[in-house]
Order: sequence, then structure tokens, then C-alpha cells
Amino acid sequence: MHPDIRNGWILALHHGVLELRAPGDASGQGLSVVWGHWNVPDGPASLRGQPLGRAIGSRARTAIDATAGLGMDAFVMAAMGLSVRAIERNDWVAALLTQAHAHALADPTTHAIAQRLSVEVGDARERLAVAAPVDVVLLDPMFPPKRKPSAKPPKAMQALAAVVGDDNDADELLALAVRVAMDRVVVKRPRHAPHLADVKPDWSVEGKLLRFDMYRGGAPAG
Ligand SMILES: C[S@@+](CC[C@H](N)C(=O)[O-])C[C@H]1O[C@@H](n2cnc3c(N)ncnc32)[C@H](O)[C@@H]1O
Repeated sequence: MHPDIRNGWILALHHGVLELRAPGDASGQGLSVVWGHWNVPDGPASLRGQPLGRAIGSRARTAIDATAGLGMDAFVMAAMGLSVRAIERNDWVAALLTQAHAHALADPTTHAIAQRLSVEVGDARERLAVAAPVDVVLLDPMFPPKRKPSAKPPKAMQALAAVVGDDNDADELLALAVRVAMDRVVVKRPRHAPHLADVKPDWSVEGKLLRFDMYRGGAPAG
């Protein structure tokens, strides 16, 4: 492929691997996405005790990640044993996500996990409107960073912020997600961020920097 350039950021191949280069990055220094065992350091059982695992609950078997981004959360849910539809609308992010999925399928250590995951390129508002019910819908839309961040965000978050910008239509996802979720909708937010769509959650789980807001699902259990 030819390198694609937007606002100084470049999406290009380096030795056959797709990478996202910040302005000034040399070839090979960009962000490429690989899912692996660093996502699940102590095995799948340990994930259930982490904030995302607690937020999803122990009964969930199926999920839609409606804001898949680089697929970290989708991969972790699949590692917990869930079948996951990962939906991403930004074409650059979707390209990185699709490559990470192909890489995980080809790697014997992640193959079984990656098989439980499907990647879809499109707008989750359209997909949720026609989706079959699932146990859990995860929403993690972009949220504007604090004006004076105490620490520089990780490279992946900086890249997402530059390439995607703000998800100003994120509020629309909540009502759609509630209609598709049989068990719950999980909304991942920075700890001090307001509630999505200004709707108070049924309950929350707080981590050091993050908060998971839970809304009871409205889809009849199948
Ligand atoms: C903060 S990132 C998600 C990070 C992700 N949880 C992870 O683990 O890598 C938010 C992503 O949601 C995507 N997004 C936002 N609204 C969307 C929509 N309506 N449909 C599909 N993707 C959407 C954005 O393009 C962005 O890549």
C-alpha cells in the first residue's frame, strides 16, 4: 500500500507490518498493534477479578464492543471466554485492528482467543440498531483529555486522540446499546468524567483512573 498521510500522521507498512507514525517518527518507530499475553499476564481467570472483568460480570458469554479502537478490551473479553463482535468506524483504526486480529489468528498462542472475536468496520449506531441481542455491550468512546494532564498519555492513546478526535455523537450509543444488551451495558469512562448522555448508571465499578458505569440491559433474555 502507499503511505496515507493526514495532518502529519502517516499510516504505512514497515516490513509488511502496518504502523501509525506520529509527525517526526522514522519508519519502524510508529505504533503497530499486537495483542498477546501481555494483555492477560496471569491467565484468563485473573481477568475476571480486574475492573473490566468485574464490570462485565461472570455470566456473560457474548458481547459487542461498539467502540473497539485498537481492540485491547475486545481481546481481553475474548480471553475471558466471551464471543465478541468488535465494531470500529475510523478507517485507520479499523485497519490497525484488522491487522492485529489477523496476527492473533496466525499466532498459535492467541489463535483460540482471536477465533472468538470478529472485527467489523462500520458505525456502531447502525449496527446496534439491527443487532441480535448479546449479554453485554461495551462502550468506550473517546473523551477529551484533561486540560493539564498530570502525565503524558500512552502512545496508543495519543495516536487515537490525533487520528479519531472526539466522539461527539457518543451519547447516541447508550440507548441503542441498552436495547441490544440482555444483561448490561458497560460504559468505560475516565474516573471523573460525567455520565454518558447524562444518564445515571445503575451501578459503577471504580479503578484508579477509570470508572465503569453499568446500565441494566433492556433486551429480553434469549
Ligand atoms: C477510546 S477508543 C476505544 C479503545 C478500546 N476500548 C481499546 O481497548 O482499544 C474509542 C474508539 O471508538 C470508536 N468509535 C466511536 N464511536 C463509534 C461508533 N459510533 N461506531 C464505531 N466506532 C466508534 C472511535 O473511532 C475510537 O477508535
